Amino acid sequence: MSEPLLSLAELTAEEQQLVASAELAAQRAYCRYSKYAVGAALQASSGRIYSGCNVENASYGATLCAERAAVCALVAAGERRIHAVCVYARAEPMPMPCGVCRQVISEFCRDATVLVAGPRGVLRRSFKALLPDAFELSPDEDAP
Ligand code: THU
Repeated sequence: MSEPLLSLAELTAEEQQLVASAELAAQRAYCRYSKYAVGAALQASSGRIYSGCNVENASYGATLCAERAAVCALVAAGERRIHAVCVYARAEPMPMPCGVCRQVISEFCRDATVLVAGPRGVLRRSFKALLPDAFELSPDEDAP
């Protein structure tokens, strides 16, 4: 990715808050196998921010990414709509939501700003650009 990175000063105040939340969450990552600490922060339709970190597992395959941990926190708080996403890692390479996380985020998001952040700066993307033509079903809106 050779695209120039944005500095924090170029972000909106809300975006800066999202990056700060993701950075804080990354400090709590349980990443003893990869040593790659990731934090994610989601802004819900209420304006509240929910965060998560990666939680690795000795089986490797049971590892949970930061983004999905944050989605679980948002849903457990009674929210259903994601407006903005930030994923932060201090180490290189910069993080990028994996395919599974993109699909899980898409369940709660029509489109969203996605910030990919690290100490060198921030990339801004639209969620639709990360997951065009997402698979979706149309269940009864009243279903839990
Ligand atoms: N990881 C995330 O939590 N989010 C990302 O966007 C990229 C990868 C985690 C999964 C695993 O714990 C570690 O980073 C290395 O892949």
